[in-house]
Amino acid sequence: MTAGCNKLRWFGLLFLVTLWACGGQQSQQTMMRPAGPMSSRIESLWWFIFIIAIIVFVVVWIFLVGAAAKRKVNAQLPPDIHPDRNREQRYLRRVVVASGLTLVILFGILGHSVVTGKYMYSLESKNPVSIQVYGHQWWWEVQYPNDDASLWVTTANEIHVPIGVPIVLQTRSKDVIHSFWAPNIHGKRDLIPGHSSAIWFQVDQEGTYRGQCAEFCGAQHAHMAFYIVAEAPQKFQAWLDQQRKPAPDPVNPTLAHGKDVFEKGTCIMCHTIRGTNAGSRVGPDLTHLASRISIGAGTLPNNAGALGGWISDPQAVKPGVRMPPNPLPSQDLQALIAYLQTLK
Ligand code: CUA
Repeated sequence: MTAGCNKLRWFGLLFLVTLWACGGQQSQQTMMRPAGPMSSRIESLWWFIFIIAIIVFVVVWIFLVGAAAKRKVNAQLPPDIHPDRNREQRYLRRVVVASGLTLVILFGILGHSVVTGKYMYSLESKNPVSIQVYGHQWWWEVQYPNDDASLWVTTANEIHVPIGVPIVLQTRSKDVIHSFWAPNIHGKRDLIPGHSSAIWFQVDQEGTYRGQCAEFCGAQHAHMAFYIVAEAPQKFQAWLDQQRKPAPDPVNPTLAHGKDVFEKGTCIMCHTIRGTNAGSRVGPDLTHLASRISIGAGTLPNNAGALGGWISDPQAVKPGVRMPPNPLPSQDLQALIAYLQTLK
């Protein structure tokens, strides 16, 4: 087998793997599978532009190849020094028609995109589910405000929403420009420091949809992901009720020791665990850490091994992250992980 053939095979394999990855598994991140009305409209605009672009591409190539083939024949003839009036007229008409068609196509795309853009602001409700999202380097703070401060929920990198109802998501940045983007749900929204903005959306299909920061915001921009978990209203309410509860008390000496390590070590300087002495707001609120899909804003799965590695040396996993290394004795680390895993 030749080297060229081998290369081709590798490209084929790479293509298939890419297709499979783009197809999306349990938590998808693709505009091609819209989960609500906003993303459906964005998808149809995308197909509209894509199909037009394909038609234009094919037509241009047909004319280009046609012209090239003709030129070959004409090259045999002596140069034409007397312009043919009729032919010049014919060419002029073609140029005018082609320019007119280009204009029509561009205005068609403009019109479709203006209508789609307007639709993005059409969702209204007197009583929407209200969520606040703050972009940080490099994670997402998520809050569910409530008039009663004891019912206020703060979490991180995971946004639970009920299906079938309008949701308003207010966005702000705590440092640099970020961009909130969950392609299955809506378009991008930039988070500009000092400005707040809001997007309205609705999710109609239950599922877990991955989103990520879409504006370069520093070294770990690529590790600034989040999940939108869309669930039936009762399930969402159950989740919200659970998130409102303070952290459970440790039920055995190991867990008590873990809590002690948290409260007496460096963790308490940045994190909150409601129901304990930890109340700092520099890093994510960890009151219900164990209920989340990932740690480090989509960087690692949320399990004991990953948690241990992350606590011990976050700089090795996500260089530049604000969290310092914590070289804890093994027993302390084990107890701390066990305790954190009870924060459901
Ligand atoms: Cu935040 Cu990129």
